[in-house]
Amino acid sequence: AADISDDISEVLLTEEQIHDKLAELATQVVADYDGREVVLVGVLKGAVMVMADFARHLPVHVSMDWMAVSSYGASTRSSGVVQIRKDLDTDITGKHVLIVEDIIDSGLTLSWLLENFASRGAASVEVLALLRKPDAMKVEVDCRYVGFDIPNDFVIGYGLDYAERYRNLRDVAVLAPHVYS
Ligand code: PRP
Ligand code: MN
Ligand code: MG
Repeated sequence: AADISDDISEVLLTEEQIHDKLAELATQVVADYDGREVVLVGVLKGAVMVMADFARHLPVHVSMDWMAVSSYGASTRSSGVVQIRKDLDTDITGKHVLIVEDIIDSGLTLSWLLENFASRGAASVEVLALLRKPDAMKVEVDCRYVGFDIPNDFVIGYGLDYAERYRNLRDVAVLAPHVYS
């Protein structure tokens, strides 16, 4: 198969920078929750790498669950209408939920999820996102744990895809324009 590196214009965050940041966020989370057990909810598929690495920095009991959601309709994601493709397996009523995401782009996916989880009676719902694009956000999302604010470029790797590829890249990188133009 072709080499991924041919499709990258710039490495934005190295594997090491990502892991250091996740360790730092884990320390914060452990301190903030102070013994309260957390349900980590990963948003498939992009959050798989963040979940795997972040969770392994936690020395406390947690459980993990997963949601798969997709935007639909003629205007796709910008509609903010979200469909559940795979729901949680567990009841989060009365639980402390920490949503784990790879990236906040427009913010529409997360704002929908936050509302959805609040309506299920979670005791608390917070968000951890490795990446956030302040210049792309269309709705305000209250994200307690943010790894990095990044420019509004098309980024791939570490779970982030373009047409389902590049999730397996270890770093976060900017996709070369020749790939999509
Ligand atoms: C991507 C990303 C976030 C969401 C952010 O997921 O992983 O979940 O988009 O975009 P937003 O802030 O504009 O809503 P995507 O829908 O591409 O699915 P995937 O995780 O399976 O790649
Ligand atoms: Mn996603
Ligand atoms: Mg995607």
